[in-house]
Amino acid sequence: MKLIETQITGTGSYVPRRILTNADLENMVDTSDEWIRARTGIKERRIADKNEAASDLAYKASIKAMEAAKVTSEELDMIIVATITPDMIFPATACILQEKLGARKIVGFDLEAACSGFLYALSIGSQFIATGMYNTILIVAAETLSRITDWKDRNTCVLFADGAGAAILRPSHGSSRIISSYLGADGSGADLVKVPAGGSRLPASIETVKNRQHYMKMKGNELFKKAVKMMAQTIEISLDKGNLTTNDINLFIPHQANIRIIKAVTKRVGLSMDKTWINLDRYGNLSAASIAVALDEAIRKKRIKRGDKILFTTFGGGITCGSILLEW
Ligand code: COA
Repeated sequence: MKLIETQITGTGSYVPRRILTNADLENMVDTSDEWIRARTGIKERRIADKNEAASDLAYKASIKAMEAAKVTSEELDMIIVATITPDMIFPATACILQEKLGARKIVGFDLEAACSGFLYALSIGSQFIATGMYNTILIVAAETLSRITDWKDRNTCVLFADGAGAAILRPSHGSSRIISSYLGADGSGADLVKVPAGGSRLPASIETVKNRQHYMKMKGNELFKKAVKMMAQTIEISLDKGNLTTNDINLFIPHQANIRIIKAVTKRVGLSMDKTWINLDRYGNLSAASIAVALDEAIRKKRIKRGDKILFTTFGGGITCGSILLEW
C-alpha cells in the first residue's frame, strides 16, 4: 500500500488574557523575579478565567486553525485533544469540543502524554492520513495547568500555566510532509512528575484534598537531567531517520519547560539558539500546548516559509518524549 504524506495546512492558538508576572508570584510564595528568570527563563504566564476550561481554550485555538486551513467544521473527520487537564475525567474533552465546533458525529478522543501530547497527536493523526482512512484531522493541545498547580508550592507554581494550540492535518499535495517521527516513553520515571490523587489509585477524599494531593508534584532536579539527555537522544534519532543533520534545520521548536534545558540540549546536539523558538519567557510551561502555540506563533510571525525544515522535540511526564522532523 502506498502511504500518503501528511501536511499541516493551518494552525491556531489561544492564551488567556490574564497575565501573572513573577512580581505577582513574589506576593504569593517565597520566591523572587530574579530567581525565576535566572533558573527558568520565565517572566510571565497566562492564567485562565474561572469559567474557562480546557475545551474553551481548545475551541478558540481550533477556530483559528480551521480559518487558517480554510476548513469548515463539517469537513473534519477526527478530533484528537492532547491534554492532562481535561474538562472532566470523562467524557473526553474532544467530544465536548466536537459539539462546540458543530462538527459531524466524527471520532474524537483525548490523548494523555503530558508535555509530549502535541507530538504524539501529530504522529498518531498522520497515521490515519497515511492509510487514507481520514482526510481532515484536527489536533489540539489544550492545558489549564493552573487548575492542578499548588499555588503554595514554589517548586512548581512558578513554572506552569494555561494555553492551547491547534493544527489541521491533511494529505500533502506538494513537498510539505513529515520527514521522520520518533516517540518514546520510559515508565521508570513515572514518579518524577504527577498528580497523585483523583484517579483509581487514590480517589478523591477529604484526606487527599487536605494533603494537597490533587496538585502536581515534581522532582524538578531529576527531571531536568533526564530531559536534557532524552531530548538530545530523540533529536539524534529523528535526524538519523530523516537523513539530515542539525545544519539542515531552519527552525527548532522545543518543549518550553526551562531555558536552561533548551540551552543545554542545543549545545549538546549542535543547534543554534538563533534558530530556536522560545516562548516560555511569556507563557511558562504549557505542557502539551507549548509546542503547538510556538508553532502557530512562528508561522504567524512569518518565521517559517515553504520548504523549511522544522524540528520539534519534547519531553514530559510519563516520562514521554518525542521528536518530529518536517518539511513545511
Ligand atoms: N524560588 C526560589 N527558590 C526556589 C524556587 C523558587 N520558585 N523553587 C525552588 N527553589 C529553591 C529550592 O528550594 C532549592 O533550595 P535549597 O537548595 O535550599 O533546597 C534551590 O532553589 C535549588 O533547587 P533545585 O531544585 O536544585 O533548582 P534547579 O536549579 O533544579 O531548578 C527547576 C528547579 C524546577 C526550575 C528545574 O529543576 C527544572 O526546570 N526542572 C525540570 C522541570 C520540568 O521539566 N518539569 C516538567 C516536565 S516538562
